[in-house]
Amino acid sequence: MSFRNTIGITDALPQGTGSQNDWGVSCGSLHLCRLEKGQVSPMKILFASSEALPFAASGGLADVVGSLPAALSQKKDMDCRVVLPLYRSITPEVRNRMTFLKDINVEVGWRKQYCGIYTIAVGSVTYYLLDNPYYFMRDGMYGFYDDCERFIFFSRAVLEILPELGWKPNIIHCNDWQTAMIPVFYRVLYQYHQEYENIRILYTIHNIQYQGVYGKEVITELMGIPTYHTNLLEFDGMVNLMKGAIETADRITTVSPTYAKEILDPWYSYGMDRALVRRQDGIVGILNGIDVVGYNPETDPNIPKHYSATKIQGKKDCRKALLEECHLTDTNAPVIGIVTRFVAHKGIQLVQQTFHEMLQMGCRFVILGSGERLYEDFFREMQAEYPEQVHVTVGFVPAMARRIYAGADIFLMPSQNEPCGLAQMVAMRYGTIPVVRETGGLKDSVFDAGGENGNGFTFKTYDAYDMLDAVKRACALFGDKRKWNALVRHAMKCDYSWNTSAEQYMELYRSVLG
Ligand code: GLC
Repeated sequence: MSFRNTIGITDALPQGTGSQNDWGVSCGSLHLCRLEKGQVSPMKILFASSEALPFAASGGLADVVGSLPAALSQKKDMDCRVVLPLYRSITPEVRNRMTFLKDINVEVGWRKQYCGIYTIAVGSVTYYLLDNPYYFMRDGMYGFYDDCERFIFFSRAVLEILPELGWKPNIIHCNDWQTAMIPVFYRVLYQYHQEYENIRILYTIHNIQYQGVYGKEVITELMGIPTYHTNLLEFDGMVNLMKGAIETADRITTVSPTYAKEILDPWYSYGMDRALVRRQDGIVGILNGIDVVGYNPETDPNIPKHYSATKIQGKKDCRKALLEECHLTDTNAPVIGIVTRFVAHKGIQLVQQTFHEMLQMGCRFVILGSGERLYEDFFREMQAEYPEQVHVTVGFVPAMARRIYAGADIFLMPSQNEPCGLAQMVAMRYGTIPVVRETGGLKDSVFDAGGENGNGFTFKTYDAYDMLDAVKRACALFGDKRKWNALVRHAMKCDYSWNTSAEQYMELYRSVLG
């Protein structure tokens, strides 16, 4: 069964493009060159990312880069690899299993910096981990005064290592601002070198809010690119790395069909609509999938009882265990789970504004997240005031998140904007019914139970009382056990795997290669 909107990608692909990009570079047919009769060489894709599971994660990007290459590698004639920084957080166990390939020097402005190349295989995917202790042996991945320099180094290193690998990708698939300099460096410094010819670059926006904005001095001090190319990077009087990628990548994609349209609207774009609108070839939106093997209530070792759509009893046990763990009393009202970052665009304000009404309806809340102090304090206060109804865990506790996905009845995710969102899909996989605002990937994956094939509850306007209305409708249906169980079973049976999306990426890669 599938809920997927398949229009996103084909809609955005212009007729007959893919042979010529903005740079007038003709895209030869590289990807499946014939070797012998019936034999084809694989399409080679290198994912460049600042995070990827199982090595380093701070958000959804790590989930995507941790699972999409593996899903693509299952397809015929695909060879996908991933490159990311070797952070301090990468465990000694992983380090012991890595193989050292070589070290090289990478230019960062006028300096040359060491870069060690390590490799490790995870299933069918080869990972390259790039080492520079000065840049990456730190506690945490981001938030340092020199983040710009660190990821300029990484982006340049991704291109510099290619001749050393004995493996030339057809496409480098870059993700978010941290790798946005790869297409810029490629156009300006590498594309005419024999070893680099005909590589195509795809750039995926996972969240348009984080663009990598710095002072203009970084162009000469860190990038070392000729000043007559500064127009590629300049935006509103600053250097904007994401804008550079939008100017220079062969194709721009984002993580849901709805977000692909929304980011052309100033309400969502954080200014970037002015750069995106100039891309004649449009923006492709492909909905993310989730790792349905890792997120499986039939096997998940983190939850107290296992269950499936046909054997649902275990979910009731998980609910009971969650209430006990959180010292909440049970009633006939639903348990509402929230797993999020406590930041404004996740819609926490809507929850705050209507929290008392929802408590009066008897709802229980199990909340997990961290972020802005304002919201952490609010939930802590609510827990102190209503200890039988509210439980909050401040922090990043993956096992607790699983227990909430399994034990809650409703999953509340009223985001102001949400490029894709993975939590709503994980919740549905665990039979927890999402209540979401119709934005980005939430709109493309959750459909209101009032209509055909509904798997959740949705509301349109970013308004606390519209959200409350959707919560009330969910609570009312929760009272009708027969209908509720049918909804839970349907939500669990929807297809959240990468399968459909991986096909769409392959179609896109083919079109980029010509
Ligand atoms: C970002 C987005 C989120 C998306 C994830 C993976 O974290 O905010 O909506 O699911 O990237 O693409």
